[in-house]
Amino acid sequence: MLTYEDAQSELAQLAEMLGKANTAYHGKDAPDLDDADYDRLKRRNSALEAAFPDLKRTDSPSDQVGAAPSEGFSKITHAVSMLSLSNAFDAEDVTEFDSRIRKYLGLEATTPLPFTAEPKIDGLSLSLRYEDGRLVHAATRGDGSVGENVTTNARTIADIPQRLAHAPKTVEVRGEVYMSHADFEALNANQSKKGGKLFANPRNAAAGSLRQLDAEITRARPLRFFAYAWGELSEPLADTQMGAIDRLETLGFKTNPLTQLCDGPEALVTHYGKIEQQRANLGYDIDGVVYKVNDLALQARLGFRSTTPRWAIAHKFAAELAWTRLEGIDIQVGRTGALSPVARLAPVTVGGVVVSNATLHNEDYIAGRDAKGGEIREGKDIRIGDWVQIYRAGDVIPKIADVDISKRPEDAVPFDFPHRCPECQSDAPREVGDAVRRCTGGLICPAQTVEKLKHFVGRSAFDIEGLGAKQVEQFHTDGWIAEPADIFTLRDRFGSGMQQLKNREGWGDKSASNLFDAIDEKRVIGLGRLLFALGIRHVGEAASNLFAAHFGTWTALSDGMDAAKPLSGPVWDDLVGVDGVGEVMATSLVNAFSNPEERAAINRLAALLDIQDVVRRDTSSSPVAGKTVVFTGSLEKMTRAEAKAKAERLGAKVSGSVSAKTDLLVAGPGAGSKAKKAVELGVQTLDEDEWLALIEGL
Ligand code: IVH
Repeated sequence: MLTYEDAQSELAQLAEMLGKANTAYHGKDAPDLDDADYDRLKRRNSALEAAFPDLKRTDSPSDQVGAAPSEGFSKITHAVSMLSLSNAFDAEDVTEFDSRIRKYLGLEATTPLPFTAEPKIDGLSLSLRYEDGRLVHAATRGDGSVGENVTTNARTIADIPQRLAHAPKTVEVRGEVYMSHADFEALNANQSKKGGKLFANPRNAAAGSLRQLDAEITRARPLRFFAYAWGELSEPLADTQMGAIDRLETLGFKTNPLTQLCDGPEALVTHYGKIEQQRANLGYDIDGVVYKVNDLALQARLGFRSTTPRWAIAHKFAAELAWTRLEGIDIQVGRTGALSPVARLAPVTVGGVVVSNATLHNEDYIAGRDAKGGEIREGKDIRIGDWVQIYRAGDVIPKIADVDISKRPEDAVPFDFPHRCPECQSDAPREVGDAVRRCTGGLICPAQTVEKLKHFVGRSAFDIEGLGAKQVEQFHTDGWIAEPADIFTLRDRFGSGMQQLKNREGWGDKSASNLFDAIDEKRVIGLGRLLFALGIRHVGEAASNLFAAHFGTWTALSDGMDAAKPLSGPVWDDLVGVDGVGEVMATSLVNAFSNPEERAAINRLAALLDIQDVVRRDTSSSPVAGKTVVFTGSLEKMTRAEAKAKAERLGAKVSGSVSAKTDLLVAGPGAGSKAKKAVELGVQTLDEDEWLALIEGL
């Protein structure tokens, strides 16, 4: 039995620990406690406070939302406090949440009480204040009542509109700034290239990027924003939470597509399960699902406790940690020859998913060292047979977070990282400054070849329908494709007979001819996409587009590569002078084109394609540059998305609604209220053909 004194001293300890964790998390963007541990301490604190109410401290962690704002930014006092959410950890907590609300409101068990359920985005919250439709300031949460003025930085975020049409006179839109997994990885890769600071996770990267004293740094970071709440309003957005979300979307904000209306706790938990299943594939981190009473009148009646609303709760995902046995270490060879160690584990459930593989990063990681030679896991190495702790973050690939040396088998030996490629036996040295060993086998290495082919058909590359990783492997094993060009000669080689393909399991007349059609469709390709598809080391999507824009045409690029071959001279100088292109990227590109076998393979491929020049953007001759255009009614010659993209490319701003600021309305058949309004406001109206005539040839 816990005594009064024990509880008192434990509460003091908890206040100190949670206080420190809060400062680290909110103040310095560097968490020192993981979320599950933080939640556990906070729950323990609440339980003790519930058992010994008079021991509740004046500085109780339950009453603190964040940490005091840091120096450096001016301060903004929130017109309406920015609150936190209380947590639910299982279905029972969710049922209690519903019962508590019913009790508070005096609702019968049979009275409908719908809730919204939406992902809890793992980023940092931001409040955006608009007056007369203009963004006037943006503030972080800070301690809930005073936040940091990050207006200049927020203006650089594409998802945050600078202007709102048809908005209430005053509206504070709140939501989460976050970074996608892909952008986070790219940012860290770039940071590591520059020798800059690496971010621990996308949340820290988003926070660190938003809270930059130099807004140009924020601009260079790919931040995103989901709107999900509001602060001060001069008039209500809607009657319901769902209606308000729709309204935020109409105003031009991104709202989360997984937001759903649920009729009670059971439906909430079902939706939670669905979101949890999709969690790994969302492309951004979420750490739970937020439930909110849908009826805003009821929300108003329910109000707030000291730091949390009564009408909302965050149902957190289970801590994603588990212990299991490391059964083996496999070495995989990637597209650029990198040898990646993969842990083979005794299967274990981590956060609801059975995990049997985890990444081990590189040989230093296994040995207990980081890239700079410092210790990780207190220097403990990882050995086959070890008892290891698996950590599954919101991203897809689980990691090994820790190892329990006390359970190490006596005969376990340090892992001997191979110095040769396990696939082709070529040397796999480690270049100075590189954390990984790389196979030097190049085209003779079957693993590299297959990985390159998989990359070639990947979504951001040729994206050929029906030709995915599995088919590529099959075709490679069968000797049908050895290099990218072979994909485009498949139809000719199988020609009329196609017998071999049709004899294969899973392939019939129809699927084979569909595949060949899909391949033909992709013969027309943009220069940038083609370059990316080649899978040259250091030449990612962004670099490929920069190179493509620089050269403009395939011929110019080809000639340029020959001229830049000595890695000196005017063509080379121009190339490394391109903004965003580094010497490392340029060298890698030029070297790939200078390698006789690689160049021959590239040329064989190019001969089978119709490579599109890069269209240089010049809006000076555009009659719609700077104009605000609205599309309405059905368009017959293009989709709405195409119309919008084209207009934007020509320098126009496309809006969803007609106002005094609209310059042009393009109205197809079935146009209704927008067309009427345009007439009233004297806005010029065109039909689809007139629009096409106006922009013809551009
Ligand atoms: S609602 C009054 N909805 O979680 C309640 N918050 O732990 C306002 N968060 O401070 C918050 N996704 O930073 C809400 N869909 C969502 C959210 C969300 C992430 C964050 C937000 C909030 C924290 C509370």
